[in-house]
Amino acid sequence: MSHSFGSYQDEIYGGGLRGVMPSFPMTYDGWEAGAQAALPPSVQSYVAGGAGNEHTQRANVSAFEQWGLVPRMFVGAAQRDLSVDLFGMRLSTPLFMAPVGVIGVCAQDGHGDLATARAAARTGVPMIASTLSVDPMEAVAAEFDRTPGFFQLYTPTDRDLAASLVHRAEAAGFRAIVVTLDTWVTGWRPRDLATSNFPQLRGHCLANYTSDPVFRSQLERTPEQDPGAAVIHWMRVFGNPLTWEDLPWLRSLTSLPLIVKGICHPEDVRRAKDGGVDGIYCSNHGGRQANGGLPALDALPAVVDAAGDLPVLFDSGVRSGADVVKAIALGAAAVGIGRPYAYGLALGGTDGIVHVLRSILAEADLTMAVDGYPDLARLTPDALRRIR
Ligand SMILES: Cc1cc2nc3c(=O)[nH]c(=O)nc-3n(C[C@H](O)[C@H](O)[C@H](O)COP(=O)(O)O)c2cc1C
Repeated sequence: MSHSFGSYQDEIYGGGLRGVMPSFPMTYDGWEAGAQAALPPSVQSYVAGGAGNEHTQRANVSAFEQWGLVPRMFVGAAQRDLSVDLFGMRLSTPLFMAPVGVIGVCAQDGHGDLATARAAARTGVPMIASTLSVDPMEAVAAEFDRTPGFFQLYTPTDRDLAASLVHRAEAAGFRAIVVTLDTWVTGWRPRDLATSNFPQLRGHCLANYTSDPVFRSQLERTPEQDPGAAVIHWMRVFGNPLTWEDLPWLRSLTSLPLIVKGICHPEDVRRAKDGGVDGIYCSNHGGRQANGGLPALDALPAVVDAAGDLPVLFDSGVRSGADVVKAIALGAAAVGIGRPYAYGLALGGTDGIVHVLRSILAEADLTMAVDGYPDLARLTPDALRRIR
């Protein structure tokens, strides 16, 4: 893909001259509306929904509207450099795809994990592959081509199973392990409760477990012979309420970069740093887990401050290229999206995701061009003004 991300608009306008209109909507609202029509209602509401009355989820989005980027002129930002160094990897953009556990079933063919990995290969935008997937992690990693992929671990209660998942991820070529801390128990989600719908309990997205030798050894009959028993065993081992005492063990599992996801308090950053993690991931799970009201973006500056030289990944509420620019200015080293690419996938498979990623990157690039910020280093808190 061209590194002039803004040139995506030239392709689109050029198509118009030949009478070809874009195949996909151009904004988040359009992606969401299109996906609403494309997805089965149970999947659509699982993806779109959040905790409680979804106040936190909305606050994540509106937090971005409270910041404005200050335009600078006579900069001549003809070329923009959006590249970042992350854990020794040179990435052409600061964008990544956050782990989405049901991404597999958001695709029309039921193989959304593979479609997402192919979009990563085509764009250079890394995918963080969830523990909860339709296809096993080895098949997902096989699609990355040269784009690095990260594996997200939901730490099971069984330590041998946890070690097995991490070691499989290493063997499959994943380049970092992201441990999610905020989802050892499912938050209160009225949309899913109202339809009594929880995809994993119906046996969906458990391939990393049912393909795992340790998990299989814990079953009396194979998951193929008795899928129901596999789901019941999965319920037993899924959620581990980790404490700081577990961090040395987690650290000992891998020499890959270890990133902890769900961190919003500076004190937690300091303890994680003392425990030897390589990266902090500031997120409130897109407002899906607790309806506490604090937008993740508001937690970001103090997290960045406490992290010092550790990179801070960020997600929750990012809907556009302008949002990516603002999160970078508030100190994020890399910025993730969840629902936007899930909707792109629902609309058009790998092509739909590529469109969403290219649209967000084009807007980020053109915002930096117009406002006079030629590279990410120039995007500091001084580039932003609080609106309210
Ligand atoms: C349907 C769905 C499933 C998710 N599954 C996971 C998961 O398996 N692991 C994880 O760490 N986060 C998961 N997340 C959270 C995302 O990684 C990310 O934090 C969130 O989507 C970011 O917010 P956004 O959707 O507003 O962009 C999920 C999010 C959604 C929408």
